[in-house]
Amino acid sequence: MGTSGHFLFGFLLTALALALLLVQAQDQSGFISLDCGLPEGTSYTETTTKLNYVSDASFINSGVSQDVASAYGDGDTYPRQLRKLRSFPQGIRNCYSVTTVKGTEYLIRGSFLYGNYDGLDLLPTFDLYIENSLWQTLNFTDNGMDAYIDLIHVTSSNKVNICLINTGNGVPFISALEFRPSLNITYLTIASSLSLYTRMNIGSTEDRKYRFPFDVYDRIWSPFNFNKWTQVSTNYSIEPIRENGLHLPSIVMQTASTSKDTSTPLEIWWDPIDSSQYYVFMHLAEVLYPEVNQSREFIITTNDNFVSGPIIPNYLSSVSIFPNGPFEGASRHVIAFISTEEATLPPIINAFELYIAKNISKLEADQGDVDALTNIKSTYGIKKEWQGDPCVPMGFPWSGLHCSNGTIPRIISLNLSASGLTGEISPYISNLTMLQILDLSDNELTGELPEFLVNLPNLRILYLTRNRFTGLIPKALLQRAEAGLLALSVGENPDLCTSVECVKKRKNNKRKKYLVAIILSSIIAVLLTILMVTLVIYKRRKQRENLKRSIQERLLKSKNQLVQYSEILVITDNLKTTIGEGGFGKVYLGVLSDKTRVAVKLMSSTSQQGYNEFRAEAQILTVVHHINLVSLIGYCDEAENKALLYEFMGNGSLRDFLSDSSTKVLNWKERLQIAVDAAQGLEYLHDGCVPPIIHRDMKSSNILLNEQMQAKISDFGLSRVFVNESDTHFSTCPAGTFGYLDPTVHLSRNFIKKSDVYSFGIVLFELITGRPAIIKSSEDNIHIVDWVKPHITVGNIQNIVDPRLESSIDSGCASKFVELALSCTLPTSAGRPEMSDVVLQLIECLKMVQDITPQMSNNNADQNFSHNSIGSESLPSPR
Ligand SMILES: *[C@@H]1O[C@H](CO)[C@@H](O)[C@H](O)[C@H]1NC(C)=O
Ligand SMILES: *[C@@H]1O[C@H](CO)[C@@H](O)[C@H](O)[C@H]1NC(C)=O
Ligand SMILES: *[C@@H]1O[C@H](CO)[C@@H](O)[C@H](O)[C@H]1NC(C)=O
Ligand SMILES: *[C@@H]1O[C@H](CO)[C@@H](O)[C@H](O)[C@H]1NC(C)=O
Ligand SMILES: *[C@@H]1O[C@H](CO)[C@@H](O)[C@H](O)[C@H]1NC(C)=O
Ligand SMILES: *[C@@H]1O[C@H](CO)[C@@H](O)[C@H](O)[C@H]1NC(C)=O
Ligand SMILES: *[C@@H]1O[C@H](CO)[C@@H](O)[C@H](O)[C@H]1NC(C)=O
Ligand SMILES: *[C@@H]1O[C@H](CO)[C@@H](O)[C@H](O)[C@H]1NC(C)=O
Repeated sequence: MGTSGHFLFGFLLTALALALLLVQAQDQSGFISLDCGLPEGTSYTETTTKLNYVSDASFINSGVSQDVASAYGDGDTYPRQLRKLRSFPQGIRNCYSVTTVKGTEYLIRGSFLYGNYDGLDLLPTFDLYIENSLWQTLNFTDNGMDAYIDLIHVTSSNKVNICLINTGNGVPFISALEFRPSLNITYLTIASSLSLYTRMNIGSTEDRKYRFPFDVYDRIWSPFNFNKWTQVSTNYSIEPIRENGLHLPSIVMQTASTSKDTSTPLEIWWDPIDSSQYYVFMHLAEVLYPEVNQSREFIITTNDNFVSGPIIPNYLSSVSIFPNGPFEGASRHVIAFISTEEATLPPIINAFELYIAKNISKLEADQGDVDALTNIKSTYGIKKEWQGDPCVPMGFPWSGLHCSNGTIPRIISLNLSASGLTGEISPYISNLTMLQILDLSDNELTGELPEFLVNLPNLRILYLTRNRFTGLIPKALLQRAEAGLLALSVGENPDLCTSVECVKKRKNNKRKKYLVAIILSSIIAVLLTILMVTLVIYKRRKQRENLKRSIQERLLKSKNQLVQYSEILVITDNLKTTIGEGGFGKVYLGVLSDKTRVAVKLMSSTSQQGYNEFRAEAQILTVVHHINLVSLIGYCDEAENKALLYEFMGNGSLRDFLSDSSTKVLNWKERLQIAVDAAQGLEYLHDGCVPPIIHRDMKSSNILLNEQMQAKISDFGLSRVFVNESDTHFSTCPAGTFGYLDPTVHLSRNFIKKSDVYSFGIVLFELITGRPAIIKSSEDNIHIVDWVKPHITVGNIQNIVDPRLESSIDSGCASKFVELALSCTLPTSAGRPEMSDVVLQLIECLKMVQDITPQMSNNNADQNFSHNSIGSESLPSPR
């Protein structure tokens, strides 16, 4: 009777469970299933789970859609949602912003399959943030490793932001992102969120993971069995009765393991990787039909402390046990199931979950600031990658922003220079009330400068250079600039007036022009002009020759001669030939009477910035002389016209030589010699001058070459004399050039010698690769360091060497050189060498080239990586 009753009961339960399963299988309500990289607007139903995946395109605006290599994408080794992915070659941060229901407990899952999608066979490492907290550092161990990370998290607002952060170790990517809502109650007894360490379907002998629709919450259960345990199972369905809405899938509970006999405890242990707090959930059910003379009874201990018991699992009904409080502090955590005296059957376990507690901190920038930025973004149609919270995660704000610290971060700096802005200054900027720095230079902005700029109480830097503003600068702005409260740059706005007189003059000019037009139309004027011109030309030529001779005599007599503007016009033939553009103005060719050529740098505008740079350069060059610094031979310091005269560098800049369009290719030895020359120049500034001088704008276009190909450093307009290195007096002055700028300066706004070393490291990379600091390609711009690093990591230096160098470069020398460049560009300044070291090492490199005949070597560095698997897949060990 017992057997048939049992059979009938089991049958009914199975039927009931199937019915439930069918109902639940339909129910994906609230599920968010994003197949990252799927074309916008498309969706599909995955065949084994019946989950409905949609494109992630409406949750993120940046990134590139990619497919895994065919070796991983063909066949059905991997579920469909992993075969496409979204990668993020651009930007430090890229964020998903997902709308959720506030106060709901979600299972959030990110899935990843690298699958050699980029053909580079380079496994990246990157960070994944949720809100303001690091969720997981992802470090992959092989191309075909499909990893996922789970987080049980209660939302505190109706948006969840998930950001992929490029840490400089490869391009971040993600294959799928899933949200499963309304996980009920039990996991919630813990205050923090829970990050999955492992979730095991114990006793399963199938090579298959179970998830939705078997698990209504779509938890993924991985099979686990252990040969010292006995695997037991039942064909009858197991009901989740006494388990607080955990909804354990029957299929998972139907298999279990027991220890081999009642005298052997069943133990599970793991060694914590750090000081994390661990939470354990154990799920038990009897699977063997209980004979009268049999009993299964045991207690549970953790690290030898009694937790629970005696426990007699119910037949075909699951119970969940979760020790209160976390496991923490011990070097090994042990959970033991120990049979009681009464037991005739050994202890049993059906499923096991282990989580690490994570405190996810939610931080949101000031809503007014966010609204203002959103409006600015849409007004100008820029910065589509601006997504998620502007300031969060802290330390990785939207590009062009800086935020204040604090419980509600505020925008303190907005840099939209060279962002292609058109139209007028957006009125929404006035709502960024904590703004200290606003840089709108190098755009096509028009219209008048709005009054509200005056009302930003904290504004201390305002750059509006190189736009097309019109009208008058608000008086209050000028007053603040004059009082030294505001660094104001308005240069190169041809129609912008700095004073009331200017406006009047311009109006008058318009009137005059009208009159002049009438007069000019008369033939007399034309005739007069022709006559005068003919006369004057002859006279001038003579005068000019005389002047040139006298200037030359003066200039040759001693350096740093004062020259008049009129004289400059003579030697440059009225500024006829432009040979370059320096920090604060254009550079013209000048010719003295004996045909000696000189370079004349003329200050372009009357702006304060230009004047400061002119003064800095003049001050430094009149006292500093070195063979590898461009030397000053004269200067002009008149009220309106200021100019500097230099020795002429006949071969132009290093940048020109390295560019693709250069007709002459520098060989390796020439490049090394240039590196040595320039390094010596910089070393002299740093160590040969007291107090030291920081160049602050080291780049290949500021390294000039004379006719003998000797390299000299130029453009000292941004240089500063530092009395001591901790002097941050100039810290708010922006300087440097994008691509060369020491990343630590960005944060600390403080230039030190090592910032020059960083920039010089970029120049070294340019020398060996022949590529510019910012490598432009059709879709994105890559910083040269980001470009070389992947190649260097795999020891493939030949791949980065300028192909134009062919075999003139020896690989030993090349790797030494690259190593040096790398050390110069270390992200933190402390590790970078001094310029004196750089000089020594470069000279050594140069010696190698001179001493040995070039040899090719194909000895690539060892390509073996050691790998680390990520948390969710590493299993605790049984024993
Ligand atoms: C979660 O629990 C609430 C009440 O505690 C209940 O109304 C709701 O239906 C439960 N949801 C699920 C999916 O079990
Ligand atoms: C479950 O069913 C299969 C086939 O129907 C059978 O081979 C197996 O022995 C059954 N297992 C149990 C534990 O009853
Ligand atoms: C329990 O009783 C069954 C018969 O009811 C018998 O076959 C079995 O050997 C007994 N087991 C033990 C451990 O006594
Ligand atoms: C989370 O925060 C709580 C309270 O602030 C603290 O007691 C707990 O140790 C923190 N947990 C972790 C994993 O940091
Ligand atoms: C914010 O705090 C961090 C660390 O405490 C500090 O390094 C950083 O300079 C601060 N930023 C601002 C804008 O105050
Ligand atoms: C704004 O950004 C540009 C380039 O990204 C940089 O050259 C400039 O110095 C920045 N402005 C400020 C005020 O930091
Ligand atoms: C700025 O914010 C205020 C409220 O703080 C709002 O009334 C005003 O419309 C906003 N201005 C703009 C230009 O958005
Ligand atoms: C990734 O894992 C490997 C192997 O454990 C380790 O050597 C490497 O440093 C890790 N990368 C990062 C960036 O943590």
